[in-house]
Amino acid sequence: MNKSVAIWGTGSLAQRYLQASDALSEVVCFVDSNKEGEFQGKPVMLPQQLTNNVVERLIICSTYINEIIATCRSLGFDDSRISIVLPRSLQEVAFSDFISLSKENYYYLPWLSLEETLSTSLSSDIVFPDVYKEIVKSIAYVFISSVEGDFAEFGTCSGYSSSLIAKTINYYSSHLSSHETMHLMKPRELCLFDSFQGFPASTKDADLQSPHVASGAWGEGTAKGLSANELKQLCSQFLDEQNINIYEGWYKDTLSSIEPERKFGFVHLDCDLYESTYDVLYHLFEQAHLSEGAKLLFDNWYCNRASKSFGEQKAWHDICEQFNVECTHVGMYAAVGHKIIIHSYNKK
Ligand SMILES: C[S@@+](CC[C@H](N)C(=O)[O-])C[C@H]1O[C@@H](n2cnc3c(N)ncnc32)[C@H](O)[C@@H]1O
Repeated sequence: MNKSVAIWGTGSLAQRYLQASDALSEVVCFVDSNKEGEFQGKPVMLPQQLTNNVVERLIICSTYINEIIATCRSLGFDDSRISIVLPRSLQEVAFSDFISLSKENYYYLPWLSLEETLSTSLSSDIVFPDVYKEIVKSIAYVFISSVEGDFAEFGTCSGYSSSLIAKTINYYSSHLSSHETMHLMKPRELCLFDSFQGFPASTKDADLQSPHVASGAWGEGTAKGLSANELKQLCSQFLDEQNINIYEGWYKDTLSSIEPERKFGFVHLDCDLYESTYDVLYHLFEQAHLSEGAKLLFDNWYCNRASKSFGEQKAWHDICEQFNVECTHVGMYAAVGHKIIIHSYNKK
């Protein structure tokens, strides 16, 4: 490692990187757009204060990689002087293929043990492997059980789960191709839905009164991630571009553009809010887009203190009352999620 290092980020990634390396002695400053003062005994600067001629090497300890790299380039840092530190869990999505830096610029932190995680901060490394396993198992179920239809995700943000879904569809499409042919399955497609602007403003009491909205955690514009183009680029690393469909915009506006004959065998609902989840489910049930045996993964079922009055749980409850849904609840999904298999329902 060269001298005169700056670390971008003062959160848990930076802390873990400093624990796992001996970089601190070479660090001249930290960079953070929301914080000034000191961190680990070194000054914290704003991005615009970062001077290219004082700092030889920049280590990014943040997952807002695209924005930070764009800023670094505009400040005159060339890519060979930038390194990126990420949790081990993100190695799965091959960010290194997506962002135009070479693989050598990436450093993946070692996995944390449960004990280490609990004594530092709650790390995504504990939750993400579970998300990955559940997505793989659920997609395997759809293929092995010959559930008809495509794969949908509502809530794409960082592209983490979208890219895992793309990768897994590709894996089973090729490994189970004769099984697919025997069951007369059409090529499986991936449909990704997002505003690409983060959450909408909440309007319904079931959101406004929920702890996550009231605290501002799920406020308007939060959870904004990749653009539609970036998401397409990322997912097309894993699945043919012609099998990826992106529906950009608010769900209430884009749902009606789902082709009438399209069926879904797998739906990843990761749009958190009651109103968003309700709008999606209402349309999918009303237009009979869900196949017999379709697997639904709700990413945030047990958020909001697991209350049945808010979020995905309330949306599901309200939908079941209208469509006479027969289903099996098949357990928890990762830390706060839930899985359901649909057997039948009445179109309104
Ligand atoms: C928690 S994030 C999704 C996380 C994502 N699965 C990942 O792996 O990073 C929630 C996403 O839902 C989207 N969203 C929520 N409500 C929406 C709505 N009504 N219309 C369109 N997008 C919505 C937000 O833009 C955000 O990207």
